[in-house]
Parts: sequence; structure tokens; C-alpha cells
Amino acid sequence: MPLDVVELTSAQFKKICDIVYRFSGIRLSSGKEALVKARLMKRLRALHIETIEAYIRYLESQKGVSELDYMIDAMTTNKTNFFRELAHFNFLTDKILPNLSDRKLRFWSAACSTGEEPYSLAMLLNDKIPGIVKRDVKILATDISATCLEKARRSVYTKSNMSGIPDQYLRKYFDKTENNSSAIFHLKNEIAGMVQVACLNLMKAWPMTGTFNVIFCRNVMIYFDKKTQEKLVNRFWDYIEPGGYLFVGHSEGLSSISHKFTYIQPAVYLKK
Ligand SMILES: C[S@@+](CC[C@H](N)C(=O)[O-])C[C@H]1O[C@@H](n2cnc3c(N)ncnc32)[C@H](O)[C@@H]1O
Repeated sequence: MPLDVVELTSAQFKKICDIVYRFSGIRLSSGKEALVKARLMKRLRALHIETIEAYIRYLESQKGVSELDYMIDAMTTNKTNFFRELAHFNFLTDKILPNLSDRKLRFWSAACSTGEEPYSLAMLLNDKIPGIVKRDVKILATDISATCLEKARRSVYTKSNMSGIPDQYLRKYFDKTENNSSAIFHLKNEIAGMVQVACLNLMKAWPMTGTFNVIFCRNVMIYFDKKTQEKLVNRFWDYIEPGGYLFVGHSEGLSSISHKFTYIQPAVYLKK
């Protein structure tokens, strides 16, 4: 079923965009037709469905209830890497970790993709906090994409994923094996065990109780409209302890939305 013989009409595009927006907050705007079509094709192929019209019928039918999750998963953009936006990790090292004293430590990577973000945090905490094994430290890592979460849980990466990792962390926290002459990097259990991976749609209810020292919500709000961003940022407020921080992506400043956080430096916000 070649891509060019399957038609995506503007009415179908609009319908898919509306469903994706209602369920996930992701705003797919006009201009994204080719991207949406390519992503839908993955689902059509998996289901052996020939046309987008038939796919939409299936999606809306009783038989297709679980398809919504697969379709949303296919629509997500999951680009990430270890120690992405290094300034946040430097800020943690210099300004946050030295002041955390002996309290329990709670972090949340909200939209963690394939795990590089929460595992970067786990490596940093392990390296910088003396006696970390005796501390009560938990990193929650959530995402809407089941495919990403499966990779995050596996915590096995290829050489192409490893570019952002400092050499000493690579040696200290990964076991390297070879598979068909390609290097495979297995994150050590002491780091993987610090992270709890769970499926969570940021648009739905959040089951967590208690507050976090730091929430990372990076490079996901760019896919949401202002109204959704504002609602989300204000929900985060209630989940951050006083003196705690919200990190957003460096292209996602909060200047155009209404919120109670104090701006500290680009993409770093404090709950006073
Ligand atoms: C570009 S990745 C960012 C990953 C990581 N935070 C980073 O900065 O490298 C965006 C992630 O947001 C997730 N996402 C999109 N909408 C979501 C939603 N409504 N709830 C939870 N996760 C969502 C996607 O599945 C994707 O993995």
C-alpha cells in the first residue's frame, strides 16, 4: 500500500486533528498533513486497512476502542537525548542539589519519552549526592506513548543514543555488549532502579500524592496551545513543594501565559 495512493482529505485531516487534540492536547496544525498521513500509514499497515476512511470508521467503532491509544502513540514526536539542555543539569548541580539537605527527594520527568531524561537525572543524583543509596530518592518518569515507555523500561540504548553522556558516566553507569558488531549499552540496575516508569496522559487525572522537588516538563508543551499550556503549568504548581522548581524546554518560555512561578533563568521557574 504505497503512501501516495492513499488519500487524506482535508475533512479527514481535521477529524484526526480534533481527536488527537481532545485526547492528548497535541495541536496538529495545517501544514502537518504529510506528517499526519505518514504516521497514520503505520497504523493502516499494522491493521491491514486500505483507506483512511475505513481507518476512521474502525477508530470510531466499538471494535476500535483501544486503537485510540495506538493512534495517539503514532502521532507523538519522541525526540530526546541524554543530558539534553545541559544548562538544567548544571543548575541542578550548582543550585539545587547542594540545598536539598537530608529530606526525601522526589523528581518527576513528565513526558519522559524513551527514558534518557529521567536516567540522566538518576546518573547525576547518583554521582553528586554522597551516600545516595541511604537516601529516599524517587524519580517518576511518565509519558503517553506506550512504545516509548517500553523502551524506557528496557533501558538499553545503542551508540547513536549515547552522544550527550559524559565519558565517565558512560563507563560508570552502563555495561557495554556487542550485537552483530554494534555496541549496545545496558544501563546498570542501580540507576534504572531509581526511576519508576508509568503511563500518564498529562491531560487526564494524575494519581500521584505528595509533591516534587523538581518537575521536568520539557519539549512537550510546544505541541500544546496556550490554553492547554496554562492549565498544565498551573496544575504543576500544586505538585511542586515550596522552594521547588519547574523546568520547561528552552524554546517553551512561560512569558505569554498566566502562572504563579518566579522566573529564575531561561526555562527554570521557582515556586516560592
Ligand atoms: C519531544 S519528547 C520530549 C522528551 C523529553 N522530555 C526531552 O525533553 O527530551 C515529547 C514527549 O511528550 C509526550 N507527550 C505528548 N503528549 C503527551 C501527553 N498529553 N501526556 C503525556 N506525554 C505526552 C510524547 O509521547 C513524547 O514522548
